Amino acid sequence: MKCHRDEHGYVGSAGARHAVPTLSVAELEADPHGVFRTWRPRVPFIIHEIGGYMVLRAQDVDQLMRDPRVQATETLYPEMREIPQGRLFDIFAHGMLTANGAVHRRRRSPFTRTFATRLVENLRPRIRDAAEALVRDCMEEGEVDLVASYTGLIPAQTIADILGLPRGDIPRFTRLAYEVSQVLSFTFGPEDLPEIEAAAVALQDYVVEILEARRAAPRDDFLSRFLAEADAAGELTPDEVVIQLVQMIIGGTDTTRGAGAMQIALLLQHPEQWEAVKQDPGLVPAAVAESLRFEPSVGSAGRVAKEDITLDGHVVPANSLIMLSILSAMRDEQAYARPDAFDIHRTDRPRLHPVFGGGVHRCLGEALARIELEEGLGALVRLAPRLRFAGPVPMLHGHSGIRRIDALRVAW
Ligand code: HEM
Repeated sequence: MKCHRDEHGYVGSAGARHAVPTLSVAELEADPHGVFRTWRPRVPFIIHEIGGYMVLRAQDVDQLMRDPRVQATETLYPEMREIPQGRLFDIFAHGMLTANGAVHRRRRSPFTRTFATRLVENLRPRIRDAAEALVRDCMEEGEVDLVASYTGLIPAQTIADILGLPRGDIPRFTRLAYEVSQVLSFTFGPEDLPEIEAAAVALQDYVVEILEARRAAPRDDFLSRFLAEADAAGELTPDEVVIQLVQMIIGGTDTTRGAGAMQIALLLQHPEQWEAVKQDPGLVPAAVAESLRFEPSVGSAGRVAKEDITLDGHVVPANSLIMLSILSAMRDEQAYARPDAFDIHRTDRPRLHPVFGGGVHRCLGEALARIELEEGLGALVRLAPRLRFAGPVPMLHGHSGIRRIDALRVAW
């Protein structure tokens, strides 16, 4: 660990003097919660070895999500990671996640109606039936990896049905989405780039294939309407059409897969809380929310500072990459009582769950993700009361972006 002693202020709110440390990926990956627990009371951010400022405290993360001095990163991040062009670069150049202002609104608005809470609530019964059918299949198989056979399939089937992708394509597009999502983790090295770029090419080619088929033979589905509207309004470029769908596929699969597995693993590790949920399935939404707080499948959101930003006497210089650490914020002792305790009965969660971000980029799939997670857990509670680990306790790895889940082997 190196300490920067030049451009950063040292005076903390309590008068204690702490230099802002620069932390390596290896340190952050080894024990992200431990590292953040150590530094959060001392400094408002740490410097990340790839060159960004990782903001640690709940209040700062929440405020900066909505601060006009802070914007989406556009292509800053791929440029910093030596991805100056290509199909991975295009995801940042043409996607809603990294866009600002009118461009962001133009890219996001075709999806907002379809993903509005009221409309996705209509999907709940179908998602419940699908989850129950998957549990029955898994139980017939005996010991299974729930990530591959259950928590990955619920979001994949749902997003396939919403967008109108053939279910038979699920193995193809999920494999590619999981590979491409690594680019958002800050953890990959230059040696991993050719493989991630190849996956980005294949995923975009897949989306182009689907779009061409739909243009040739429109149906009564989201994709046909999206295409017809995009073509008629002429507001989205052909690249933008493809990349928004790529972002929906990535956002709609990998994040919920990890969260779905983690919530089961956390409950099985806390048998009294698993018993409580089985006794009272009304606790399912609280169990989902607490799992998302305690071990989130998304660790951070990226931004860029448009001017110098002072936090607790320390300065984030203009034009730097900011990583808002949701992971750290949700364990902040200033925001939660006993933040390192997993407690589905806690009452101190904010009304808007921080795991879905904040401001104009707040997760488009939040309502859908909650339904998938609640129904995924609910089906197990009802149908598999004797569920138990049949392999190592899985972990969510990674300190930033989309985190990676281990296998979750269970027996019934
Ligand atoms: C547990 C599951 C999920 C978590 C934890 C999660 C988390 C997040 C977060 C933190 C953001 C904001 C990123 C930022 O501000 O830079 C975000 C944005 C986004 N999410 Fe999710 N997400 C989840 C599920 C989903 C699902 C199921 C979908 C799609 C069906 C989805 C689609 C998106 C999209 C398209 C954006 C970009 C929105 C924009 O930039 O306007 N997410 N998500």
